[in-house]
Amino acid sequence: EVFDSSSEASNSVAMEIANLIQEKEEKGEMCVLGLATGSSPTSVYNELVRMHKEEGLSFKNVVTFNLDEYFPMEPDSLQSYVRFMNEYLFDHVDIKKENIHIPDGTLPYELVESFCQEYEKKIKALGGIDLQVLGIGRTGHIGFNEPGSHINSKTRMISLDHITRLDAASDFFGEENVPRRAITMGVGTIMQAKRLILMAWGEGKAQIIHRTVEGEVSDSVPATYLQKHTNATIVLDEAAAAEL
Ligand code: GLP
Repeated sequence: EVFDSSSEASNSVAMEIANLIQEKEEKGEMCVLGLATGSSPTSVYNELVRMHKEEGLSFKNVVTFNLDEYFPMEPDSLQSYVRFMNEYLFDHVDIKKENIHIPDGTLPYELVESFCQEYEKKIKALGGIDLQVLGIGRTGHIGFNEPGSHINSKTRMISLDHITRLDAASDFFGEENVPRRAITMGVGTIMQAKRLILMAWGEGKAQIIHRTVEGEVSDSVPATYLQKHTNATIVLDEAAAAEL
């Protein structure tokens, strides 16, 4: 879906999320959302906060699972995805703290694997993710599933691609400060979500969007796996769609 602007696109995504939350609420069910960080979803979160404040949209029946976190990473660090989510969404809505899940960047290395297994179990126990929001990295990563990630991969520790670390360099005041690893939901975890929405804005994303949409499905561009999902939408502004 191509929109004239990223703000129109973001409003449409926020509307779909809000409708799902309300639909689930009416049925007395929890709404399980998979959430992303990065600049792409920020306007969606702003719009959801506005809907909470001005239209009474409640997050009391919402459970969230974030895609990824750098490793190691302290939650109060500037670059932490915990901090990001609090600042853009969680601090401004009525979500219950116990319903928020974000991969833990503070774990001792030897506990990461069991943490990841537990993360998968928690998602399954809730009946899976109802709607997963995604951005895309310049390498074609979704979450932090870099090129080479298997379609069935699960939540795990990964090594970040050189290009991803380069792109994160300004956030960390130098590439040498960017962590070499991260914990991410797997491609398989993402593909099991009932609904996927990948967002990309701006000309910087045009080339990787072209490869994602029109290229062959391959682990060299993990976002191409979305072609195999039965309910995935790629939401773009004009600039990101320029090479389609
Ligand atoms: C990071 C995140 C990804 C995100 C990507 C793109 O690598 N881990 O989940 O999709 O950045 O970020 P942006 O939306 O800022 O372009």
